[in-house]
Amino acid sequence: MIPLSLYVHLPWCVRKCPYCDFNSHAKPNELPEQAYIQALLQDLEQDAPMAQGRPIQSIFLGGGTPSLFSAKSLEILFRGIQKQVNVAADCEISLEANPGTIERGKFKEYRDIGINRISLGVQSFQTEQLTKLGRIHSSDEAVRAVEEIYCAGFSNFNIDLMHGLPGQGLEKGLADIKQALQLEPPHLSWYQLTIEPNTLFYAKPPQLPEDEVLAEIEAEGEALLAKAGFLHYETSAFAKPNHQCRHNINYWQFGDYLGIGAGAHAKITDTAQQKIFRFYKHKHPKAYLDPDQNFIAEMKSIEQSELAMEFMLNCLRIKDGFTIQQFETRTGLKFDSIKAPLNIAYQKQLLEREGDVIRPTLQGARFLNEILTLF
Ligand SMILES: C[S@@+](CC[C@H](N)C(=O)[O-])C[C@H]1O[C@@H](n2cnc3c(N)ncnc32)[C@H](O)[C@@H]1O
Ligand code: SF4
Repeated sequence: MIPLSLYVHLPWCVRKCPYCDFNSHAKPNELPEQAYIQALLQDLEQDAPMAQGRPIQSIFLGGGTPSLFSAKSLEILFRGIQKQVNVAADCEISLEANPGTIERGKFKEYRDIGINRISLGVQSFQTEQLTKLGRIHSSDEAVRAVEEIYCAGFSNFNIDLMHGLPGQGLEKGLADIKQALQLEPPHLSWYQLTIEPNTLFYAKPPQLPEDEVLAEIEAEGEALLAKAGFLHYETSAFAKPNHQCRHNINYWQFGDYLGIGAGAHAKITDTAQQKIFRFYKHKHPKAYLDPDQNFIAEMKSIEQSELAMEFMLNCLRIKDGFTIQQFETRTGLKFDSIKAPLNIAYQKQLLEREGDVIRPTLQGARFLNEILTLF
């Protein structure tokens, strides 16, 4: 059975950050919480048959800024979800939170309604950087939010940090990691800032560090995290043992997921038709909330000829790679069909095989695009 996850997109933020190209929008004065929760549940009702009875093994509330929503509204959402699909008893339920939207006691309320993992968007602990990044919170507020997370009884949480920030040198890049480590998060996502089209930073690019500085920050930051006992299990993801994010691992292992909410994406395997479908919902909240619209904006099946490449695109991000059985059950293809490209990748020392496991070498992890061109 292919594992199934559920992504829920909550598209509003207090304001738009200048580097962000996610489907997020500055919130209106009154957040349409009730209308949006009802739309999410109708959206799920339409998708529920595609779960084909499988239990939901993880739910991720992402954004945007899901922590703008009250625990009361999210409780209505969870009750509705449980009525429509089978939620596993040990389901990982994550919520993305912005430190600028957390008043006292809010994490405790989230914990009480069943959320068991928080992903906190900190980005940097330096005031100068937080200002340049247009963040709505201070470094102190980020530290206080982590204290609240502990007080609320969460044993599982993530801190999002970015590096390669405007004007950043080695020392300041590492200072953010050191400060995060003092807060002892079980999981850390460490992204290099990318300048995306359709952002303010793209229109007016800030001065970013030179390539050598970026490489130094990355190498020394990774060494600090390894020394602190973190496993570097995906390009930007670091976790203490047994604290990897189950939801993201399911994406990277080419598992199935439903996606509800504005612009949410889904990937579903239809075993009867032997086809894999990708589809997504109307992107703009207005279109998504329009009662005359069907939620699904577009749906198409993945071409047979693209399956192996799509599988590799996801699975090779994980340092542990994939098994032969995973390849066959998730794509419906025979392992023999990729023997030729695999052999080239082994020869070039981009991939290695140990028993039934195929994983990227250190070199391969650095040149994933080169591997992908083979499939
Ligand atoms: C979907 S965002 C949501 C997090 C939450 N809204 C917040 O910002 O506090 C997830 C993470 O992606 C990262 N991110 C967003 N834009 C990025 C960019 N242009 N380059 C690198 N990382 C980025 C940030 O670390 C962010 O916390
Ligand atoms: S708060 Fe998060 S999702 Fe919202 S604009 Fe900023 S980075 Fe994007």
